Amino acid sequence: MSPRRAIIGVFDSGFGGLTVLKALLEVIPDADYAYFGDTARLPYGSKSVETVARYAVEAAHYLESHGAQLLVIACNTATALALDRITNAAHVPVVGVVEPGAEAAAAATKNGKIVVIGTEATVSSHAYRKALEARALEAREKACPLLVPLVEEGWVDHAVTEQVARIYLGEAFADGFADADVLVLGCTHYPLLKPLLHRVAPAHVRIVDSAESTARAVASHLRQLLPPRPAALYNDERRAVARLKFFATDSVEKFRRLGQRFLGHELADVLHVDLKE
Ligand code: DGL
Repeated sequence: MSPRRAIIGVFDSGFGGLTVLKALLEVIPDADYAYFGDTARLPYGSKSVETVARYAVEAAHYLESHGAQLLVIACNTATALALDRITNAAHVPVVGVVEPGAEAAAAATKNGKIVVIGTEATVSSHAYRKALEARALEAREKACPLLVPLVEEGWVDHAVTEQVARIYLGEAFADGFADADVLVLGCTHYPLLKPLLHRVAPAHVRIVDSAESTARAVASHLRQLLPPRPAALYNDERRAVARLKFFATDSVEKFRRLGQRFLGHELADVLHVDLKE
């Protein structure tokens, strides 16, 4: 591992993982990042384990070939369905979003009852439920497939999105889970809906964003991986801004346009990648 700046590879099915990159940049500003968005093959949320695992392993190898020393699987669906397969195939440490999300939920809950929202595939895998039950917490998982296209449409504060979210959360916070006190955002796109979800979720509910907890988990991995650096060098590096490189399997122009919404600023260095099947 280089004694200088770390290169962190971030993988997602598309643009949504940029919410995780945004959190990473806040917690670890002194690293370089290579982000891979598999925009030609999204959405992953409606695909099978086999397909998602194959795509994700290809992307992981691509990021490794571009120098990634640690891989962040920012996509909840890829983490839920294929983290083991990616970890086995990779030659560097791999961090997914489910365990950090479950950890944050465990820290936030008072009554041990959690609602998790995510894609159809994430919910069917029960990865979050297993991670939460391993912490002696009760979980209800709810698939919210309409939310991803609504966010990509830019309707993050739209009456239609609010109505859709009201129906989903109404069904999730019902029966035995009316008093659940934590809502886990188990999908890369949902952090953009935080203000809306705060309005729609029952007032007592705390919202846990797996992007933030994942960034903290990556920072602690890096501390173990990187040798201690001289203070002067470290200070110089902290002042340096993160270098960001983006790889997208579909249109570069579209990646720039939509990506800006997720990351909050312009994406300069975007390259098109053609992964051969
Ligand atoms: N990135 C996916 C996730 O976090 C959402 C988009 C998709 O279905 O590809 O589950």
